[in-house]
Amino acid sequence: KAMNKELQKLIQTGPPGLHERIRAEFDEFEKLFGRYLQESGHAIMWDKIRLVSDDLVKTYNELKAPDNKSIKTLLNQLVVVKLNGGLGTSMGCKGPKSIISVRNDLTFLDLTVQQIEHLNKTYGTDVPLVLMNSFNTDADTEKILQRYSQVKVKIFTFNQSRYPRISRESLLPIATSFNTENIESWYPPGHGDVYQSIANSKLLDQFINDGKKYLFMSNIDNLGATVDLNILNFLLDPNTKQAPEFVMEVTNKTRADVKGGTLVEYDGKLRLLEIAQVPKDHVDEFKSVSKFKIFNTNNLWISLDAIKRVVEDNTLHMEIIVNPKTLDNGVNVVQLETAVGAAIKSFEGAIGINVPRRRFLPVKTTSDLLIVMSNLYSLKTGALEMNPLRSFPSVPLVKLGSHFSKVKDYLHRFASIPDMLELDHLTVSGDVTFGRNVTLKGTVIIIANHGDRIDIPSGAVLENKIVSGNLRI
Ligand code: UTP
Repeated sequence: KAMNKELQKLIQTGPPGLHERIRAEFDEFEKLFGRYLQESGHAIMWDKIRLVSDDLVKTYNELKAPDNKSIKTLLNQLVVVKLNGGLGTSMGCKGPKSIISVRNDLTFLDLTVQQIEHLNKTYGTDVPLVLMNSFNTDADTEKILQRYSQVKVKIFTFNQSRYPRISRESLLPIATSFNTENIESWYPPGHGDVYQSIANSKLLDQFINDGKKYLFMSNIDNLGATVDLNILNFLLDPNTKQAPEFVMEVTNKTRADVKGGTLVEYDGKLRLLEIAQVPKDHVDEFKSVSKFKIFNTNNLWISLDAIKRVVEDNTLHMEIIVNPKTLDNGVNVVQLETAVGAAIKSFEGAIGINVPRRRFLPVKTTSDLLIVMSNLYSLKTGALEMNPLRSFPSVPLVKLGSHFSKVKDYLHRFASIPDMLELDHLTVSGDVTFGRNVTLKGTVIIIANHGDRIDIPSGAVLENKIVSGNLRI
């Protein structure tokens, strides 16, 4: 009740034209908060978890390519959505993550537009690109989008909700006003918000009226998430018996991705199991590559009609992610979030499709950035393709230390991006710089101890080498 009173007060402080929208968002926030109060302490029952049966996770290779004649019809029923609410803070950048330059001065956003433009040109279609922004990313994104006013891609944006952060002490919003308040009092509540927000934006109805059937949704930082015609064909093929309302692209787990959410069966339905939900004494089991073999890429294909139904019928259910934070002013808050993939259990006939690794190429750190900037890949109409000269298809394991974690520092430390075509493993730690045209092969470990600095000279070829302090092996 106290929460409701505070929220009503906050609505009144918002711009009058927005009261209705804010009220709709706050209604959802209150539901989430109510669940949080009731559910806290409710953990998942580990014994009820079942490994997914094969019929619920299809292999990508089982899918058939569409015949050329039908591609246009298929694409005309598709909407591409990129989740663009997040900031680039984990890589030391201030604005939206999507405006970080990835290759040839092109940002995630540029590459995404190029991909869709190419698709539309190739097939003579008009697949729209939709960005889900947050109040953190909207203004900067709109500025960049002006560049694309002449490009023949219809770009739509909508904003996700803005929820109030809650004081951990009082369990009430720390915000005192919607407008003038420090922006730190608010947060975008995770990508699970996409269902409600796209419905609130009216774009959902518009696309349904335009005859669109499926959304293909992915993280904007996943450069491997291109429109896949085989999956689309499977979903829209009249021969597919009871096409799933929801497809989650999963891929085989390696030791580098043990933290990713996996698919399990729970209460007879597919469910996304995230590490945060796993009881402490089962975490090692969860991370095991042999038991839980796949993980969620967050590339999702979802029926638009089904989204409308679950939103209107209020049958959407996603586990709450409780994210505690300490703000710059020392105040302890919690923010309640949801993840888009957690809604899998709310849809009929949901399945996973085990896709090749190339469809999962996320850039979360500058180590990932180094890989996609290097000659391991080449850029083709906005999509990254593995260099055919690499003799094995796996990507090297790269671990750059904290001196490299901000994009700006990282760029300063490489005079040019090394040749990594034959690299298996790179670890760099401490104050290290790279000259021009360095070649890295096999396993390379470079460790500058505290107070030392290592400059790898231009033209150096390091093959299976450990370089540490002034000791060179
Ligand atoms: P993150 O990059 O923050 O997520 O967002 P993550 O923890 O590494 O990976 P997930 O959550 O397991 O997928 C992933 C994508 O979701 C968007 C980001 O912009 C990014 O494209 N996002 C995140 C939103 O659109 N809204 C949010 O509230 C959070």
